Amino acid sequence: MSVTTAQTEVCGIVLHPAGHTRSPAMHKAAYAALGLDATYHAFDVRPDSLAAAIAGVRALGLRQIAVSIPHKEAVLKHLDHLDETAEAIGAVNTVTRVGDDLVGSNTDYTGALQALRRLVEPSGTQAVVLGAGGAARAVVRGLVDAGAQVCILNRTQSRADALASELGAHDTGSLEVLGSRPYDILVNTTSVGLGDDVSPVKPQDLRADTVVMDAVYQPETTRLLADAAEAGARPLGGKWMLVYQAAAQLELWSGRTAPIDVMAQAFDRAGDV
Ligand code: ATR
Repeated sequence: MSVTTAQTEVCGIVLHPAGHTRSPAMHKAAYAALGLDATYHAFDVRPDSLAAAIAGVRALGLRQIAVSIPHKEAVLKHLDHLDETAEAIGAVNTVTRVGDDLVGSNTDYTGALQALRRLVEPSGTQAVVLGAGGAARAVVRGLVDAGAQVCILNRTQSRADALASELGAHDTGSLEVLGSRPYDILVNTTSVGLGDDVSPVKPQDLRADTVVMDAVYQPETTRLLADAAEAGARPLGGKWMLVYQAAAQLELWSGRTAPIDVMAQAFDRAGDV
């Protein structure tokens, strides 16, 4: 255990309920690998305490706070600036102290894109995003900016329509129409499959030679990813989105290149406890 001093940078995550988060493990492993004098805490912050918590971040001079469920939109009004991506997405998952200001960013956007780029370059592809909630916003925006044609399918189609017109997706539909839509990339951002052996997609709608990414990371191989592998598609687990969004956070405040493999291994180990 390293010794903390007045110079030690303090970072953390605000979320509610606290539950189990692998963020402290990932960030601390990266600090150790890079020799950064920094520490990381998980803070259970109820929605009615968010304003006080952000005031605390200012007063105590914390370096960076990750913002998780349910605070990603509510936090906006407490910040001094938003970067361009957070502004476009309308959600913040990272608050970084820059001088005396607190700046909001969204590294879910770059996390999703970098994860996909492990297997495929989205530019010029056709992508289908399942879901129209907060996670979908970052993924859709990332794919549109990267030059993919994006179709949003959601249980409640009106939400897909609203998101598509806001973020520049070209088509929408209900989850049932996946079989009639062409795609190279399929991304699940719904919560279907979280801790359960169910999939948002019928196995017969999955295709060979596509990339299927699941934002759900628990279990590591979701039903959707197992069905995708069975269909001859290339599956990509939600772990990678989380690792890359955390890596981008570290790079924002420290200016150092994040050790991806170290953070991915810490993510794996944190799931074993
Ligand atoms: P997040 O911020 O994690 O994306 P959210 O905003 O609550 O969470 O969005 C959850 C997404 O999962 C939505 O797209 C939701 O569909 P609706 O818009 O129709 O609610 C989708 N979802 C949740 N449970 C679902 C289920 N059982 N079947 C299909 N879609 C589901």
